[in-house]
Amino acid sequence: MNRTIESGKTLLIDGPASASVVSGKVEVFGARLRNMRKIVVREGKRLPFAVKEKATFDISVGESTNVEEVDGDTIPSSWFQAFEELLNSQVKPFTAMVIGAVDSGKTSFCTFLINKLLNEGQKVAILDGDLGQSDIGPPCSVSYAFVTKPLTDLFGLRAKNAFFVGFTSPNRAINKVLEGLASSKQKILSNNPDFVIVNTDGWVEGEDAVKYKLQLAEKLNPNIILCIQQKDELASLLEALQKFRKMSVDSPSAIRQRSTEKRRSLRELGYIKYLRNAKVKTIPLSWLKIEEDELIGLGRNYGNMAQAGKIYSLLGMKPLHLAELCDKICIVIGKRRWIDSENIKKVEEITKKKVVVVHKGEEKGLLIALYDDERNFLGIGSLREIDYRRNVMKIYTPVSEKISIVTVGRVKLDENLKETPIFTEENQSDLTFENLF
Ligand SMILES: Nc1ncnc2c1ncn2[C@@H]1O[C@H](COP(=O)(O)OP(=O)(O)OP(=O)(O)O)[C@@H](O)[C@H]1O
Ligand SMILES: [Mg+2]
Repeated sequence: MNRTIESGKTLLIDGPASASVVSGKVEVFGARLRNMRKIVVREGKRLPFAVKEKATFDISVGESTNVEEVDGDTIPSSWFQAFEELLNSQVKPFTAMVIGAVDSGKTSFCTFLINKLLNEGQKVAILDGDLGQSDIGPPCSVSYAFVTKPLTDLFGLRAKNAFFVGFTSPNRAINKVLEGLASSKQKILSNNPDFVIVNTDGWVEGEDAVKYKLQLAEKLNPNIILCIQQKDELASLLEALQKFRKMSVDSPSAIRQRSTEKRRSLRELGYIKYLRNAKVKTIPLSWLKIEEDELIGLGRNYGNMAQAGKIYSLLGMKPLHLAELCDKICIVIGKRRWIDSENIKKVEEITKKKVVVVHKGEEKGLLIALYDDERNFLGIGSLREIDYRRNVMKIYTPVSEKISIVTVGRVKLDENLKETPIFTEENQSDLTFENLF
């Protein structure tokens, strides 16, 4: 479908759609569009095509595409002021941290700043600290990239490096997120950027969120914190960030809010991006260092051999795997095996820990991150199977380099790369918060 729009107006396109400019001058978040270049608007996303000179668009629509013409520019004037503030700064490298609630426009604002700075010939890096709605690296990770040309969607970038956290929300892994962002910033700085734009997650309300964002600011020590305000949702956070230089910018009124479902399906696009061309690889467990926080103790064995023997006799069987974790004993048994609850109680009595029984096969689909022996991020994978008899791990991944370290996340994907509950016990505590992102 062709559509002609007068100068000074904006065409809002809600994906799934693609559009190209046949004639005229058009910008998306400060990126000037070349004629005939196809721009994809992903499902769940909206792109504002600001018409600078009367333009004709060729638009391909999907089932739920919506196209709307509005007067003026939907980019708030405060976004332009923030850009000027950055450009006029004398400090290099200059770090700007963007904060705001979910759906406030954080990603779009980062995209806008990056494009405008690139138009001025600046060297710009983006550090993506949003685990649940990550734009650059795979979901559940913190990542960064150097941007060399203006773009309409940061999703088109590939991470130069990533730090896998393993959760979709920061509240259960605050220290890991802090560590990941701080170490990523150091790596970025060693490449001498002019600007580092830091995007953050939308967890801004409540005591814990405020504490976490304050820690984040202290770790990253940004030259400015750019705060996207909708109403007064940032009030307590801004008070806590007193000692930092801050600038408030508006949340665009044309923003498109997304449901939890939409956020999940957008996240799934992130898994697909990093699992494209994946194949199943079989790797001996002895070649790998498995890092995992208290899930089933994959990387561990039961330390106390004598007690392990006692546990076997109490259970009346030798399980496939037995691991002692911080607060529990994890026992992996065959798919069709079963353990008498009385025997479990006896084990709990002697170990003074809760016993969790996991059936073989339940590990299938766990999201994992893969690193080389120098801890460079190679990519992600989905765990297919741990074969305890052959002592091998089967991984579905596109990574072809030699894998030395495997980190197991707290997210499980089904065959269609859709998020699915992990173990029943795990879900209980996960649900309330994860729904936010
Ligand atoms: N100025 C604008 N005009 C029109 N649409 C916009 C504008 N700014 C943002 N949007 C759209 O609104 C939606 C939400 O914006 P964005 O993704 O930038 O928010 P966010 O705060 O990063 O959200 P999340 O919390 O999911 O990461 C997106 O589809 C985006 O393209
Ligand atoms: Mg975002």
